[in-house]
Amino acid sequence: MLDKLKEELKNCTNCPLYKERNNIVFADGSAKAKIMLIGEAPGADEDKTGTPFVGRAGKLLNEFLQKAGLNRKKDLYIANTIKCRPPKNRKPTPMEKIACEGNLIKQIDIVKPNVIILCGATAMESFLKDKKLTITKARGKVFEYKDGIKLVPVFHPSYLLRQHSLEVNQPRDLMLKDLLMIKKLASL
Ligand code: URA
Repeated sequence: MLDKLKEELKNCTNCPLYKERNNIVFADGSAKAKIMLIGEAPGADEDKTGTPFVGRAGKLLNEFLQKAGLNRKKDLYIANTIKCRPPKNRKPTPMEKIACEGNLIKQIDIVKPNVIILCGATAMESFLKDKKLTITKARGKVFEYKDGIKLVPVFHPSYLLRQHSLEVNQPRDLMLKDLLMIKKLASL
């Protein structure tokens, strides 16, 4: 079913981003995963390869997953709020997110994860509509979605690339703690 959706998207013109894309960035990881991770949008490396989180931020994400004892290919299904790269890596517009929302929902409905990691503010805002929430306040907290699926916001690895402290309760330490908590929550 995911293959069919991916195939259908090849010629997608639902929003203007199709004009400059090289590849649709559909997903990575396992469709049987208990954890789904949703990032913001593809960057240049992702657009080139068609795979999410393969650039600098993706490499840092891989390091954190490894430290938490999570296998990117087996334990996670990784996607983004939108499937095509916005120019100059700007944030997706509300219209672009709406145009692509149905695809993300279909991915969730097919994978049926126990936990969805909302990676960064853009992914968080797609699911949690409380305007007062910030990623700093919401990260590490567990929210209900549907069908018993839990949502957990975490910092985006692009933010962590600029945060170098390894001190306790600094962003990098909190990211690892959040991933360890999510691993338990997903029954892994
Ligand atoms: N940042 C994202 O949010 N997603 C990617 O796929 C790559 C970088």
